[in-house]
Amino acid sequence: MKTINIFGSTGSIGKNTLDVIRKNKKDFKVLGLCTHSNVGALCAQIKEFSPSYVCVVNEESAGKIKHLNKKIKLFKGEIGLREFSSINCDTSLMAISGISALKPLMINIEHAKKIALANKESIVTAGDFVLDKAKRFKTKILPVDSEINALFQLSASQNNFSKVYLTASGGALFDYKPKDLSRVCVKTVLSHPTWRMGRRITIDSATLVNKGFEVVESHQFFNLPYENIGIVIHRESNVHALVEFKDKTLFACMYPPDMRIPISFALSYPKRIDALQTLNFKGKLSLTFEPLRVRQFPLLDIVLNGAKRGGNSLTVLNGCDEVAIEYFLGNKIKFTDIYKAMNYMFSHYKQAKLKTLDDVFYWDTWAKEKTKEYLRTL
Ligand SMILES: NC(=O)c1ccc[n+]([C@@H]2O[C@H](COP(=O)([O-])OP(=O)(O)OC[C@H]3O[C@@H](n4cnc5c(N)ncnc54)[C@H](OP(=O)(O)O)[C@@H]3O)[C@@H](O)[C@H]2O)c1
Repeated sequence: MKTINIFGSTGSIGKNTLDVIRKNKKDFKVLGLCTHSNVGALCAQIKEFSPSYVCVVNEESAGKIKHLNKKIKLFKGEIGLREFSSINCDTSLMAISGISALKPLMINIEHAKKIALANKESIVTAGDFVLDKAKRFKTKILPVDSEINALFQLSASQNNFSKVYLTASGGALFDYKPKDLSRVCVKTVLSHPTWRMGRRITIDSATLVNKGFEVVESHQFFNLPYENIGIVIHRESNVHALVEFKDKTLFACMYPPDMRIPISFALSYPKRIDALQTLNFKGKLSLTFEPLRVRQFPLLDIVLNGAKRGGNSLTVLNGCDEVAIEYFLGNKIKFTDIYKAMNYMFSHYKQAKLKTLDDVFYWDTWAKEKTKEYLRTL
C-alpha cells in the first residue's frame, strides 16, 4: 500500500487521480490533499478519502473549513504549503497549475520517494533546477503529461530511439480561419474536441503553446535534441507519442484520451494496474495523421524559438502566457490579444542566464508585470 500526497486535488488531474485511487484502494492510500481555495470540493474529498493532512493555500478559504476531524492536520497559506510539501510519503502527485507548483515541488523532492509530475510549467521554466535536485536526492520523477508519459512508457521497453513524434489534436480552433479568431469567445476555446482539462491548459492547447511546452518536457526528460522532436496532427488523440528507431521502425503508444491511464502508470510504475477504459475494435476506429502547418500556430513557433534561445526565455514566455490567458478568461482581452502579448514579449525582453531559482521567480514576476502593462495599452 503506497501513501500518496496530492497537490491540486480539486483540479482536473487531481480528481482523475482520486478516481484511480478510488478504484485501486488496495494499492494506494491518500495521505494528504492540497488545494488553493475550493473547500467545497475538498471537504467532499476529505469525507471520502480520510487523509491525515490537508492544505488550503488561500487563507480566507481555509477559514471556511469547519468541524474538521481532530485526527486531520490542517495547513494554511503559503507557509502551510511549505509544511505540507515537507511531509514524507511514497508518492506525490503534483497537479498544481502554473508556476505556483515550482516552490512546493522543489521542497517535495526532498521528502517524496517518487513524484508523478503533471505540472509542466515547472519543467518549462526551471527544468534544469528540478531535475538536478531530483537526481541529487534520488527522487524519481515520472511525467504524467500524456505525450511525455507515452514516451516514458515506450522508453521503458527499448530506449535507443533517435527521434520522437508528439501528437497534437490541434485544439478547439483547428478549423478556424485566422480572420475569425479575434471573435472567438471563452466558451468556444474551452471546448476541447477530445480532452477535458483545466482552463489554462485547454487555452494553451488551442494556441499550441501547450505542444511547445511538451517539446521542452521531452527535451528535458529524455535529453533529446530539439530537432529530433517532431509534432504531428492527430485529431483523435488515441496515439500520444511515437518513437523512431535507427532502422526507421516506429512504435506508438495508444490509449483513449483519458488522463487516468497515464496517472495510473505514473502511480503504479514499475507495476501496471488495471485500466479503467480501453480502446476497442468493436466499432470503426480510425487514426489519422497530418502534417502540422506551423504558420497556423505562430505561438508554437515562438515557444520553440524561446526553447532554443534558452536562459530566461521560456520563463518570460510562460509568465506572459499565464497573465494573457487569465485576462482572456476574465473577458478583459480578445483571444488574439494573447498572440499580441506573446509577440510583444518575445521582442521586448533582455536575454539572461538563470543562475539560481531566484532568477526564475525574478523573470516570472518581471514578465507578468510587463505583460499587464502591455495589455493595458490595447
Ligand atoms: N488536465 C489535464 O488533463 C492535464 C494534462 C497534462 C498536464 N496537465 C498539467 O497539470 C497541471 C494541473 O492541470 P489541471 O488541468 O488539473 O488544472 P486545474 O484543473 O486548473 O487544477 C489546478 C489545481 O491546482 C490548485 N491550485 C491552483 N493554484 C494553486 C496554488 N497557488 N497553490 C495550491 N494549489 C493551487 C487548484 O485549486 P483550486 O481548485 O482550489 O483552485 C486545483 O486543485 C497543469 O500544470 C497542467 O499543465 C494537465
